[in-house]
Amino acid sequence: MTSRVLWLCLFVAIVPIMAQPSDENDPFADDLTSEYAKRIIHQAKVADIKAMMRPEISPCDDFYTHACGNWHRHNPAQLYGDIQTSTFQRISKGFDRRWLRLIRSNEPKSELEKKIQHFYQSCNLVDRNDVHYKLALENVIQEYGALPALIGAQWNSSNFSWWRTVAQIQQKYGKEIILALEITPDTQNNSKKFVYLKANTNFSDSPVTASDLQQYFGLSASVARQTAQELSDLKKSLASGVHGTGSLNFLDELQEKYSNYLNFTEFLSLILGEENIPDLLCLPDEEFINNVLLTMHSTPSATQANFIMLTLLEEYLIDAKAGDMSTWCTENTKKYFSQVAEHAVYERYRSAAAESEVFNIWEQIRGLFRQQLMGDKFNWISNATRTLAIVKLDRMQLHINSYDTENIEEIFGAVTIDRTNYVKNVQKLLIAKISRSRINEPIKDFSYVPFYNNAENNITIPVAQLQPRYLWGDQYPEALKYATLGYVIAHEMLHGFDDSAKEYDAAASKAPWWDTKSRYEFDKRRKCFQAQYHKYQYGGLPLPNREKQSENIADNGGVKLAYAAYQLWLGKQTEEVRQRETMEGLSLNGRQLFFVGYAQLLCDDVQSLFKTGIAKTDSHAPSKYRVIGSLSNFQEFSWVFNCSQSALMNPEYKCAIY
Ligand SMILES: *[C@@H]1O[C@H](CO)[C@@H](O)[C@H](O)[C@H]1NC(C)=O
Ligand SMILES: *[C@@H]1O[C@H](CO)[C@@H](O)[C@H](O)[C@H]1NC(C)=O
Ligand SMILES: *[C@@H]1O[C@H](CO)[C@@H](O)[C@H](O)[C@H]1NC(C)=O
Ligand SMILES: *[C@@H]1O[C@H](CO)[C@@H](O)[C@H](O)[C@H]1NC(C)=O
Ligand SMILES: *[C@@H]1O[C@H](CO)[C@@H](O)[C@H](O)[C@H]1NC(C)=O
Ligand SMILES: *[C@@H]1O[C@H](CO)[C@@H](O)[C@H](O)[C@H]1NC(C)=O
Ligand SMILES: *[C@@H]1O[C@H](CO)[C@@H](O)[C@H](O)[C@H]1NC(C)=O
Ligand SMILES: *[C@@H]1O[C@H](CO)[C@@H](O)[C@H](O)[C@H]1NC(C)=O
Ligand SMILES: [Zn+2]
Repeated sequence: MTSRVLWLCLFVAIVPIMAQPSDENDPFADDLTSEYAKRIIHQAKVADIKAMMRPEISPCDDFYTHACGNWHRHNPAQLYGDIQTSTFQRISKGFDRRWLRLIRSNEPKSELEKKIQHFYQSCNLVDRNDVHYKLALENVIQEYGALPALIGAQWNSSNFSWWRTVAQIQQKYGKEIILALEITPDTQNNSKKFVYLKANTNFSDSPVTASDLQQYFGLSASVARQTAQELSDLKKSLASGVHGTGSLNFLDELQEKYSNYLNFTEFLSLILGEENIPDLLCLPDEEFINNVLLTMHSTPSATQANFIMLTLLEEYLIDAKAGDMSTWCTENTKKYFSQVAEHAVYERYRSAAAESEVFNIWEQIRGLFRQQLMGDKFNWISNATRTLAIVKLDRMQLHINSYDTENIEEIFGAVTIDRTNYVKNVQKLLIAKISRSRINEPIKDFSYVPFYNNAENNITIPVAQLQPRYLWGDQYPEALKYATLGYVIAHEMLHGFDDSAKEYDAAASKAPWWDTKSRYEFDKRRKCFQAQYHKYQYGGLPLPNREKQSENIADNGGVKLAYAAYQLWLGKQTEEVRQRETMEGLSLNGRQLFFVGYAQLLCDDVQSLFKTGIAKTDSHAPSKYRVIGSLSNFQEFSWVFNCSQSALMNPEYKCAIY
């Protein structure tokens, strides 16, 4: 399966739908270019940096607390709000504010913006009691038959087939119900594709309740209750299967094995088209699927139909709490326009200069690492493996997720959006997306954080990261740019050379390319990180004793490379430029500022109740230890802050891979 290393995946997973966002608080709402404005911006940044710091904690004792000790005062995590706050979350909120301005503006700057705004308006106009809305919902169902719960004895089951209906719905709207097909590149050979049959295991949070059934379809209380109970029982049985292992199967064998339950060939052909039926089908969890098939087989067809029709409806129901409609519609609009939303927001603040800065730093970092691989810095890696590493590095690509090359017109050009018909709009957008993903790449999920993809060997920088003056800016010293953008890029780049990536070669195919001796040496060093991070305590427990050290390897190497790139840049500047590497009111030189900038990129606050859970599930170390771990392994850090040999941040033994 596609293996994607998210840079801060957990952050994405747990940030809830934003609270009430406000336009007024965006300090960067206007572009300010006068000298006076520049000074104000500079001073604002100084104030921001200072506000996070606790200077009374020595940098050599605990650099995280030194740099981030007051973060929580200004950005507190909350039990019933943002259970974690971080710089990346700030950036995503900034992006969401821009998104909000765009969709609520009544002055569209393009046809695309007009469609987005009209969709948002149609969402806000939905009235659950409106007869037109209820009729539209009934039409959604009528396309695939009728709702047995609604028509009772009139329902004729003889022509209903659950799996044919499921296949037809997936084919047309991409909505996955009970069983779903997924097409992914073969990890052994990137130019081949595999078809996976997955069972949906997520039946827990369907919004269709007994009161929905009464509300939308006018069912009597008792029928509604009984139907909801049947659906809930069916969900439980479907999800109760035991999980097993994956298997790769010849289609004709599956066809025979399960002939009493469904016609596999026809199922595949309904979704993929007759000409695209594969010979091989991967079942990532056959035991679980087996239970799903048995369960469906023994379920009365009226219940099957109720279940499928009502799951289809989820897509069209408004799942907002009272008074929360516009927030819900804001997120919902983003969901349906996904990458187009990113593109449209970015159009409003994009700058060619910022983009070229990204590529510029990327080339500097890549060039440095290339030089290190060619020199004797990494002589513990064999020459042969280093040669392959250079090939992989040269083929790695970085791109900004602006979707400029995507033909937006092709995806959404033909879609007409009706301000008054939300249900039809959703249907059209689903169709546009699904037909697009058949022809071309599947539409990707919205992302705020950079990531490296093993299956492509390239780095993606989401446009949210390029919002001006969050991380770096013309008015700030370059040290901050290297500490944030430089570090992020170096971190992602090193994921191409971490413990998992040893299995993926330059062509992004699954082909181990490290020789035995280099692997052995790598592993010795990896174990050093494993032991180091396991010693750190978080939420009262030691961090997990993980074999996988990819994130720590990328953090440690990333900050070193970014710092080296900064040093190199600094060495080439005139005295006058170097003078500008300080900030008025901060007694830090450029190199010190670099480390403060790096640590502050990682400042966070986490609700204590969630600390151990997060430490267990996130492959990244908690922020505090990302900073302390990587900088205490970095000799230059201790030189820059003049840390003594006995300082906590300056241990004698330092773990290192890159
Ligand atoms: C149900 O539909 C089938 C054909 O689709 C028909 O032969 C049968 O008579 C119908 N049954 C009832 C009770 O209407
Ligand atoms: C029942 O299904 C068959 C084929 O699946 C189709 O030919 C027939 O028209 C259907 N009958 C009704 C009443 O929908
Ligand atoms: C990968 O798959 C393609 C297409 O099926 C095939 O031509 C190629 O030989 C395969 N490469 C390897 C290394 O198996
Ligand atoms: C399961 O549900 C969660 C949240 O509702 C969603 O993020 C995830 O993609 C779902 N998984 C599947 C396989 O549908
Ligand atoms: C399964 O479906 C295929 C394609 O529709 C059809 O050719 C085949 O006869 C079906 N097999 C059975 C056992 O019904
Ligand atoms: C590796 O390459 C370096 C320089 O390119 C060379 O000096 C050294 O002898 C090589 N080592 C081996 C084991 O071939
Ligand atoms: C990412 O990598 C894939 C496969 O290696 C390549 O086809 C694609 O063009 C790359 N995309 C970008 C935007 O660099
Ligand atoms: C560095 O620290 C030592 C004592 O640990 C002190 O003697 C020296 O003056 C310091 N140097 C600077 C530049 O602060
Ligand atoms: Zn990472």
